[in-house]
Amino acid sequence: PHILILGAPGAGKGTQSDRIVSEFGVEHVTTGDALRANKEMDISHLDLEYDTPGEYMDQGELVPDAVVNEIVEKALSEADGYVLDGYPRNLEQAETLSEMTDLDAVLYLDVDEDVLVDRLTGRRVCEECGATYHVDFNPPEEEGVCDKCGGELYQREDDTEETARERIRVYEENTAPVVEFYDDEGRLVRIDGEQTPDEVWVDVKGAIESNA
Ligand code: AP5
Ligand code: ZN
Repeated sequence: PHILILGAPGAGKGTQSDRIVSEFGVEHVTTGDALRANKEMDISHLDLEYDTPGEYMDQGELVPDAVVNEIVEKALSEADGYVLDGYPRNLEQAETLSEMTDLDAVLYLDVDEDVLVDRLTGRRVCEECGATYHVDFNPPEEEGVCDKCGGELYQREDDTEETARERIRVYEENTAPVVEFYDDEGRLVRIDGEQTPDEVWVDVKGAIESNA
């Protein structure tokens, strides 16, 4: 299936996408991870405000569409089924996406802003396998060590309180209209993202099974 997962920063898109990958055997296409792996990429030939994606990301701003659209187009063309996470983030990207592919299910994880900040500032990520933890809500068995692979856990550079709040602001301004766009098309499945990860998963899995 072709699955799109929408939600604010910290809503749980990555957490649920990992489960979708295991259950449905699709690929996880995530612009955030793709850009983090290419933070130092030279984009100076595009003549934009900054010369690397990382300079936008560390301030919580969106990386320009020209850079992101290309990454997504390539990843989707190579994937059989996918869960797309982190894209589209503005209406222009949503229109570009509809020219690239068809979607079977559009899921939206609904979470309140004050919950988002707590989730982002407490998040820890495995540097080896990318598994995501939270110091309070989903702690690893041994502090700082990944349960799955023994890798070291780190905090993302954009997970400081200040940058987290800026990312949420950028989301409200640019990405909330994307949620409306799919809602107006009548295809948005709204899921209560403030439940526990297991409870959210029950809803996510059910929505995919009945739509895809
Ligand atoms: P990106 O990596 O996409 O970040 P994001 O959208 O801010 O999303 P997050 O990864 O922060 O949150 P998530 O929803 O995946 O939450 P998670 O599951 O980890 O983008 C980063 C940057 O890249 C952007 O700021 C931008 O600069 C650039 N970028 C990316 N895509 C772009 C695009 N298309 N165009 C332009 N620029 C782009 O969960 C968060 C925490 O909560 C974790 O600690 C987790 O353990 C915990 N948690 C999860 N679910 C629950 C639950 N149900 N209950 C309690 N805790 C939970
Ligand atoms: Zn790991």
